[in-house]
Amino acid sequence: MKQNVTRRNFLATAGVAALATGLAQGAEEGPNGKAVKIIGVACSPRKGMTTAKAVQAALDAAKAVDPRIQTELIDLGGLSIAGYSPKPPEDAMKDILPKFQDAALGGVIIGSPSYFRSLSGLAKCFLERLAPLREPRMVLADKPFGVVAVGAFRNGGQELTIGQIQAILLCYGMIAIGGHAPAFQGATVVSTKDDISADELGLKTAAQLGKHVGEAAIKLGKSS
Ligand SMILES: Cc1cc2nc3c(=O)[nH]c(=O)nc-3n(C[C@H](O)[C@H](O)[C@H](O)COP(=O)(O)O)c2cc1C
Repeated sequence: MKQNVTRRNFLATAGVAALATGLAQGAEEGPNGKAVKIIGVACSPRKGMTTAKAVQAALDAAKAVDPRIQTELIDLGGLSIAGYSPKPPEDAMKDILPKFQDAALGGVIIGSPSYFRSLSGLAKCFLERLAPLREPRMVLADKPFGVVAVGAFRNGGQELTIGQIQAILLCYGMIAIGGHAPAFQGATVVSTKDDISADELGLKTAAQLGKHVGEAAIKLGKSS
């Protein structure tokens, strides 16, 4: 039977669909159109150090892609975040989790130091604590993400660290984004005496990653 589509029932249906997909609620309309937010998370226990700087470099490149893109760096340095538990303690995730539920969230960039050729414990705890975003709805599904890894050596396990973080975020239904050449897997940065400013190649990979995440966020935002 053909249904009569009135403006009211169309809007009601559209509202339910928007709620179901979680895409339309609260997306801010800025001067340049609907805002697309890209959140960067620096997962070093050392606040403001090389991981935070490398993630910020990627965010800057993402922001330059389109005037609708807004970026925010969340530096986990100094924060207390426990790993997953069925009853997690009230810790820093209380303020962080809502940022990942923002309807305007268009992409994520995760940064971790390479610790023993793998992601930091803080990165693992943080990523585990996103678990409430998997049920009852996959809040992060189809959102693009890129990964930045910083080590003290050129071959210090950055690519392993990136792969581990990618494996985790794929469990959230997210879409792994590599960088444009030469950053195909992600940003691989070398810190020398706690400084990344001389690592031209590493900073280029951070910029190429951020650019690609920004482009993907705009493209995927359009199709949603
Ligand atoms: C416990 C620990 C393990 C580390 N393991 C590695 C490693 O396997 N490979 C590497 O290149 N650097 C390693 N590093 C060096 C850090 O990855 C590097 O200093 C990084 O820049 C630290 O990030 P941050 O400045 O944001 O704290 C290690 C550092 C620590 C403290």
